[in-house]
Amino acid sequence: MAERLQKLIAQAGLASRREAETWIVKGKVLLNGHLAKLGDRADLAIDQVQIDGKTLTTAQEKVTILLNKPRGYVSTLKDPEGRRLVTDLVADIPQRLFPVGRLDYNTEGLLLLTNDGELAQQVSHPSHQVEKTYLVKVRGLLSAKMVKRLEQGLILEDGKTAAAKVEKIRTTGSSCWFELTIHEGRNRQVRRMCEALGLTVVRLKRIRLDFLDLRAVATGRYRHLMGSEIEKLRKDK
Ligand code: URA
Repeated sequence: MAERLQKLIAQAGLASRREAETWIVKGKVLLNGHLAKLGDRADLAIDQVQIDGKTLTTAQEKVTILLNKPRGYVSTLKDPEGRRLVTDLVADIPQRLFPVGRLDYNTEGLLLLTNDGELAQQVSHPSHQVEKTYLVKVRGLLSAKMVKRLEQGLILEDGKTAAAKVEKIRTTGSSCWFELTIHEGRNRQVRRMCEALGLTVVRLKRIRLDFLDLRAVATGRYRHLMGSEIEKLRKDK
């Protein structure tokens, strides 16, 4: 049965319907070799739909990987400033993957990429409260009072943060390392929490997401999640 192109693209887990519509408008989508228009329909049993040269298939194999993101990469699918993309690091994977949530350009560490829209939604939706742990290095010293404020929640411009867990690791000269565990996923949240305490983040690395960590994954490398890990991620939600 013919369906609207944006619906087919969303069903394949490549993008939301809305984003798919912008792809069509921007001329990224070909239908049977011709530029597709908004409103076009296709039946993938008969028609060929291509996005940036890759053919859309009905049953895409679901792939989820864990990347150890280096600094200096954006975790969006494109960047108007032409900076390097996290997807450049997984270019050898034939499926079109998208990041589950974001890490800032200069944040390192654990980032999931998938083509499984449902899993991405389960992991990143705030209501599921998936715990994320960051290793943070700040310029300045983290006092007991600051730890308490982080643990109790502090006021940011978009509201009070939920209670966080803090584990102090070590102080080196004028800097301090600690682990911060949060379950919200607001924009630049860790950096903003530290700024609210008057501390500047000089290094930020996500080291855990739920039960997953970076073990055996070097910076800039990735591994495929095992079926049992994907099941567990789904079940934990
Ligand atoms: N918090 C931040 O401030 N940046 C990130 O990349 C992730 C969490």
